[in-house]
Amino acid sequence: MERLALVLFSLLLCTACYAESYEINEDVQTQNISTHVLDVGNGFPSVNVSVEAFYLENGTFVSIGNTTTDVTGRVPIVHPGLPLQLGIYKLRFNTEQYYTQFSQTTFFPKPELVFVVDDTSVHYHVPLTLSRFGYTTYKGQ
Ligand SMILES: *[C@@H]1O[C@H](CO)[C@@H](O)[C@H](O)[C@H]1NC(C)=O
Ligand SMILES: *[C@@H]1O[C@H](CO)[C@@H](O)[C@H](O)[C@H]1NC(C)=O
Ligand SMILES: *[C@@H]1O[C@H](CO)[C@@H](O)[C@H](O)[C@H]1NC(C)=O
Ligand SMILES: *[C@@H]1O[C@H](CO)[C@@H](O)[C@H](O)[C@H]1NC(C)=O
Repeated sequence: MERLALVLFSLLLCTACYAESYEINEDVQTQNISTHVLDVGNGFPSVNVSVEAFYLENGTFVSIGNTTTDVTGRVPIVHPGLPLQLGIYKLRFNTEQYYTQFSQTTFFPKPELVFVVDDTSVHYHVPLTLSRFGYTTYKGQ
């Protein structure tokens, strides 16, 4: 009898936790980091550029996502499956591979952007405007 009560109690607890986590998932609107690569040297969006995202953990950049830009040059979420966290992120763009398809070389084969997320309730848009001899970025939303 005692054992049955324990089982019933555990079941009840589990149902409670399930309901609670389910509710939390429903309510939280996770924000994301997006990017957009524009080839200003050629005058079109940079399609199919590999973007690797990193998160700084204990002094080390840990890889958290590999994505590629779509036909408009965009990646809507550079950290698929992970929630936005406070801290320092890095995006590394494989522009060398991108220029190879035009039989071109670039002075900046792997530009890296390091930035701070200090508010997880807002969206972060971190674009890259690119040419073979320069690039720039800014904080967008
Ligand atoms: C962020 O990405 C997740 C996962 O795809 C999505 O559920 C969520 O709606 C996105 N957040 C915003 C504000 O678009
Ligand atoms: C995207 O780039 C990769 C690596 O360069 C290449 O293997 C792949 O064929 C490209 N995909 C498209 C759709 O162009
Ligand atoms: C960073 O440190 C925390 C606390 O010591 C630890 O729990 C975590 O696993 C560490 N992460 C990495 C990537 O080493
Ligand atoms: C992204 O790709 C690199 C190179 O293949 C790999 O080392 C890294 O673990 C990948 N990251 C994730 C989150 O899968």
